[in-house]
Amino acid sequence: MQPTTSFWPTALSAHAHEVDLLLIGLVGLCALLTLPVFVALGWFAIRYRRGSAASRTPRRRRNWKLEFAWALIPFGLVLVFYVWAGEAYFELRRPPGDALEIAVVARQWMWKFQHPGGQREINELHVPVGQPVRLSMSSQDVIHSLYFPALRIKQDVLPGRTTFQWFQAERAGVYHLLCAEYCGTAHSEMRGEIVVMEPAAYEAWLARQGADLTLAERGATLFRSYGCSGCHEHSEVVRAPSLHGIYGRPVPLASGEIVTADDQYIRDSILLPMQHVVAGYRPVMPSFAGRIPEEDLVQLIAFIKSLARAEDHRP
Ligand code: CUA
Repeated sequence: MQPTTSFWPTALSAHAHEVDLLLIGLVGLCALLTLPVFVALGWFAIRYRRGSAASRTPRRRRNWKLEFAWALIPFGLVLVFYVWAGEAYFELRRPPGDALEIAVVARQWMWKFQHPGGQREINELHVPVGQPVRLSMSSQDVIHSLYFPALRIKQDVLPGRTTFQWFQAERAGVYHLLCAEYCGTAHSEMRGEIVVMEPAAYEAWLARQGADLTLAERGATLFRSYGCSGCHEHSEVVRAPSLHGIYGRPVPLASGEIVTADDQYIRDSILLPMQHVVAGYRPVMPSFAGRIPEEDLVQLIAFIKSLARAEDHRP
């Protein structure tokens, strides 16, 4: 593994290479645009120094072409970077549909990762090479930020909100993961490793973890133990909307609004049920804010999402 202080960390993904190119290009362009200014500055300073014989009669003639050229050409060049960087940014916001989803819970001062099969790890993240990975992240306490120098990605992890980032590592190896947001006394110790493995080795690693239940199955158990199933599962006493097939679908609210049932919607519905009351239902659901640990919440959300998938596969 590279030392944290290495000047130029390894680039582990196509995105990382692109960020490097952007950085080098932008530094080059800045040099190209600043250099003539400093050269001219130096030249004028020498030529028009006190006591020199250079003529100081002002020239009245204006050269519009030159004026436009030195304003518009640099502007155009900088605009190229604006579009290029914008594209790279939007690429980061659009994870591929077949991405492997790993849940991340941050807390003072550790990173907890949960794989779809239920495997859990702390301050270590095992991922397969050549496969898009989507990290769906939340915090149990304060703001943290999950940073992978080798992947050139970093995203804040917030309490009460799900954020994500995705990557596709191109090479096996062990690389750093860090917290990049000052989060308290032991912030500097909130770090670990991302272990990128060949797919077969990753499968073997998953099998070795001996997870008895998948993330969604754990969520199903919690769905009953927190009493969610009491209202959301029994069709004979329908008091609450069914959650089957809800994920990713539009939901009409009592307010007349229509929202999409994404991770954030499900999280809000559990913690702040009064925020989005579904059309046709009374606002009777109790709030679970402060009653569900972050990890349980992640499992519940995984379960509700799995209901959506089951529904999709129904003939
Ligand atoms: Cu978590 Cu700094």
